[in-house]
Amino acid sequence: MDLHDYKDVAENYDLYLQSMYRVFDKHENFQEFYLDLARKYGQGGVVDIACGTGAVLLYLAQNGIEIDGSDISEEMCKVAAQKAANLDLDLKIYPADMTKFSSGRKYSLAIIARSGFMHLPSQELQIAALRNIREQLLPNGILTFNSFDPWPPIQAAQMNVGPEDFRFDCEYINSNGNKEMIYNAISYDPYSQQMSGNWKFVEYNDKGEVIAERLRPLMMRQTYRSEIRLLAELCGFEIIDIYRGYKGDKEDLNDISSARDFDSNIIWIMRRKD
Ligand SMILES: C[S@@+](CC[C@H](N)C(=O)[O-])C[C@H]1O[C@@H](n2cnc3c(N)ncnc32)[C@H](O)[C@@H]1O
Repeated sequence: MDLHDYKDVAENYDLYLQSMYRVFDKHENFQEFYLDLARKYGQGGVVDIACGTGAVLLYLAQNGIEIDGSDISEEMCKVAAQKAANLDLDLKIYPADMTKFSSGRKYSLAIIARSGFMHLPSQELQIAALRNIREQLLPNGILTFNSFDPWPPIQAAQMNVGPEDFRFDCEYINSNGNKEMIYNAISYDPYSQQMSGNWKFVEYNDKGEVIAERLRPLMMRQTYRSEIRLLAELCGFEIIDIYRGYKGDKEDLNDISSARDFDSNIIWIMRRKD
């Protein structure tokens, strides 16, 4: 079980993200970015993999893109389906692991937005996902996903985080209408490149008393640019563009050095090689 498999997390996801990204939004402009990609590459159909509660799926569907969704978490799929119904959108949303997902049709564009790929905890599963997604694409189909450049000073700090070293992240009003604080204790293992630990959700009543405390586990893998280049090659993809952030800034495709900037959000665009 991971964070997003829990009903309470799925039901609060949109609410706490608004607050989490209020100060510094590393995903600013992401919906427009994916809409542009869909208009460019999505003529044969689009699939939003790890669609979560549908931030990309619904935005693209509302803008006339033919799109299906999929997520490993049934709870996230349920929230996305309810939001689609509220918007009168008739969408197919498949609960499935991206290492195995297949809807029985092919797409010209597969999108994994806002860190879904980073939730694959091992290189074996990354390879399984890339190979499977390749099979779900039409010839020359496009896959896009993002990764955050691993940043050594943060890794070093996280190596010393213990299971009880909770750090305040954000405060928001949850789906019960109550104030809720989110803390996290996430540690980094340099051997597996995994970040793992718990998020703690602390819910208060209107008298300021704690009425619930929930621990939800999180596991993500940090992946270096050099690895992603090799993974793409191994799994039958050619990298055609690399963006830093969603505002159109392109990285040099031929520059194979690793990260130079703090925690850059890198968006990979790769084409299925046939
Ligand atoms: C940070 S959320 C992003 C959701 C959505 N793309 C967005 O932009 O809001 C990551 C999502 O990846 C999903 N996920 C994690 N591992 C997955 C897997 N192996 N296959 C499919 N989805 C997965 C989680 O359930 C979660 O909904």
